[in-house]
Amino acid sequence: MIEVSDLHKSFRSGEGWIEALRGVTCHVPKGRFAFIVGPSGSGKSTLLYLMGALDRPTSGTIKVEGFDLTAMSEAEQNAYRRDKIGFIFQSFNLIGNLTAVENVLVPFLPRGLTPELRSRAEELLKDVGLGKRLSHRPRQLSGGEQQRVAIARALVKDPVLVLADEPTGELDSRTGDEIYRILRELQARRQTTLVVVTHDRRFITPDDLVLEIQDGELMNGEAKEPNGDLARVASSS
Ligand SMILES: Nc1ncnc2c1ncn2[C@@H]1O[C@H](COP(=O)(O)OP(=O)(O)OP(=O)(O)O)[C@@H](O)[C@H]1O
Ligand SMILES: [Mg+2]
Repeated sequence: MIEVSDLHKSFRSGEGWIEALRGVTCHVPKGRFAFIVGPSGSGKSTLLYLMGALDRPTSGTIKVEGFDLTAMSEAEQNAYRRDKIGFIFQSFNLIGNLTAVENVLVPFLPRGLTPELRSRAEELLKDVGLGKRLSHRPRQLSGGEQQRVAIARALVKDPVLVLADEPTGELDSRTGDEIYRILRELQARRQTTLVVVTHDRRFITPDDLVLEIQDGELMNGEAKEPNGDLARVASSS
């Protein structure tokens, strides 16, 4: 599903460079729930954003379903993000003057809405427990409810891959449990591949793939498959 090889990403910082990723190689199989964990500043978000083609690496390649993101033109990357990827961010990123249903439909606004899409959005909101909140605007929703709208928005295009950066970072722990329950249920039902950055290891189960990053490098020892075999994960050194 996702093949990352020898990924490097440097950012210019004043006179010098910050090496956010220093040769990350990993593989996330289709349909898996993968977590990226590690200390603050270790490169977790950088790796996630590169998987979503939100940025380009300094060197190395990322293939998703066989397509090399790094070889794509700008237009191809835009289409990849629009059609294939569901993003969930810590801060929900909902549009204030749109209702829950309209927020879910945002990915389709440039192409136009159909009655089918509208009922699909309503269906997804029911799936995440918001059937009674369809016409609410973000300020009329709790944080957990807003994040559930964001999850429905990420899923409305039936993405092959869902990328989430600290999706429960702004929520209390009970609401966090609820968000993960929804993510796992949707993943089980749709066989979606999920990659989630988290600080909170409480949500990780033994079946999950764990990518542990430190100082821009993957610590291979942690990236174990459930049967105990090392996943195809290694740092470049
Ligand atoms: N756009 C940028 N410009 C300059 N430096 C950046 C940029 N994005 C990230 N960095 C730097 O790269 C390193 C890795 O950042 P990243 O955001 O990937 O960390 P993280 O593991 O997600 O941390 P956190 O847990 O705090 O979110 C950090 O030192 C950060 O300051
Ligand atoms: Mg981050």
